Amino acid sequence: MPNVLDSFRLDGQVALVTGAGSGLGEAFALALAEAGADVACADLQLESAAKTAEAIRSLGRRAVAIPVDVSREGDVVAMVSATVEQLGPLDIVFANAGIAEPTSPLIESTLETWQKVIDVDLTGVYLTAREAAKVMIPRRRGKIVSTASIYGFVANFRAGRGRAYAAAKAGVINLTRSLAIELAQYNIQVNAIAPTFIGTNIAGGMLRGETEESRQYIAEISARTPIGRLGTPEELKGVAVFLASAASNLITGYTVAVDGGYLAW
Ligand SMILES: NC(=O)c1ccc[n+]([C@@H]2O[C@H](COP(=O)([O-])OP(=O)(O)OC[C@H]3O[C@@H](n4cnc5c(N)ncnc54)[C@H](O)[C@@H]3O)[C@@H](O)[C@H]2O)c1
Repeated sequence: MPNVLDSFRLDGQVALVTGAGSGLGEAFALALAEAGADVACADLQLESAAKTAEAIRSLGRRAVAIPVDVSREGDVVAMVSATVEQLGPLDIVFANAGIAEPTSPLIESTLETWQKVIDVDLTGVYLTAREAAKVMIPRRRGKIVSTASIYGFVANFRAGRGRAYAAAKAGVINLTRSLAIELAQYNIQVNAIAPTFIGTNIAGGMLRGETEESRQYIAEISARTPIGRLGTPEELKGVAVFLASAASNLITGYTVAVDGGYLAW
């Protein structure tokens, strides 16, 4: 029987990460590369994806930067073909790109904002998984990992905050189950990660603690979280490698909460 740590290694595998230019996507891309994978870094902001790709190349892995708007079907089709052309057939995809909407009372909210969040956070995951599956099915292997949120399980405690976001993330969790059932016959595992609050660029920097309003929000979140603080992108790396690797081959259709206990009480 092989050493258990070897089952976490990703040597020679090809991964694609959306939203790889910042925050969690950047951490996921680096984690996969540190475990041995070559990585296509896709993002709306090509320059930031290029920085992540450069950091990966300095680790000795191959990496490319690809521009994409995950809510646009043609972009997602082109992103997967560019990955296969430049790095080879895809073994792992992280459908991670996402946005949050500003707080607004329900009756003042717009269909445009609702639609935008659903398009990026839910339809973007569907399109990314669909295009990746076209490469994975003939090879009878693959790992599809999406970024959900604790807000796929519960709603934001602040009234009017993240309504479309919560709906989209709950959608990602059940889409994960649906795809897992459909793709199990092809030896493709489909799972999701549901992080707690992490101080990235999302939500206009509300989780970065750079303004008084943000610091108050962080204090409120910390008081509501058993570990008493936010998480860091680095703390998501272990679960990312686990779900991308053979170590998790028996797990499919599951969403792992990486939440400092947020959902425990
Ligand atoms: N930060 C948190 O607290 C938190 C918690 C739970 C879940 N998440 C989820 O993690 C994922 C990553 O968010 P983050 O916190 O790292 O935010 P971030 O803003 O730091 O990074 C998101 C990246 O996605 C890119 N992006 C945005 N829209 C895109 C699009 N249409 N197509 C392609 N790329 C696009 C951005 O350019 C950016 O580089 C999102 O799905 C988010 O919902 C974040």
